[in-house]
Amino acid sequence: MKVDIHSHLLFDLDDGAATPYDTITLAKKAVELGITHVIATPHHKNGMYSNPPDTIRKRVFEVNKLLQNMNIPLKVFPGMEIKLYGDLVTDLEKENELLTLNNTKKYVLIELPQSHIPHYTEEIFFHLQLKGYIPILSHVERNKVFQKDPERLYNLVQKGALTQVTAGSIIGTFGYKVQKFTLALVRHQLVHFIASDAHNENRSFQLPLAYQFIETNFSSKLSNYFIKNSIHVLYGVEFPILDASKVERKKKWF
Ligand SMILES: [Fe+2]
Repeated sequence: MKVDIHSHLLFDLDDGAATPYDTITLAKKAVELGITHVIATPHHKNGMYSNPPDTIRKRVFEVNKLLQNMNIPLKVFPGMEIKLYGDLVTDLEKENELLTLNNTKKYVLIELPQSHIPHYTEEIFFHLQLKGYIPILSHVERNKVFQKDPERLYNLVQKGALTQVTAGSIIGTFGYKVQKFTLALVRHQLVHFIASDAHNENRSFQLPLAYQFIETNFSSKLSNYFIKNSIHVLYGVEFPILDASKVERKKKWF
């Protein structure tokens, strides 16, 4: 069982798959690589796209039917990638306003702005956890603040945030510098999930390749940790987290 917790494979909702054909192409690629379960996480409230839970649920239903009809053995579950905003916790508590990953009321996939960290971030994460939710920060390796000062990420992780990095960043799709920084985060146990963040044929499902890379360059124990963590997210259960350490600041990552 291989679960991908972050993807944009639902068609016509955001900058991911545009048509049902694109969705099927992506799904076939996922299956070819050995992915069995995918949480669809369209962008939400990021200034460009707004996708209410009902729209996402309906599209997930349609896509699962399509996959079934075409005998493609992939199961899709609802979720969303939410851009951090002030009323996030209040809205999570409302009916039909936001979606947690696979609607389990546990894990919330949150996107930070790429160039700064809003001053209310820690406060929102604190309130999220008070209500029993766990924030997962998407593609943290791409955040300019974390790149400059990884301690900011360490501090958020110490306060209970979990982090996801993109499979392509692990295997070098986005260049050597990104890869080096991403692997440093992995080495310091500041990463809890790897996901594809698949959008289209160019940014496709690469998750199993990243697991393979981790197994070869770190250990099978670590790649299994990542594999299992994503399964726990699908089921909405908590799991033990490895202790993180600080990434050296003296190194210039970018
Ligand atoms: Fe994404």
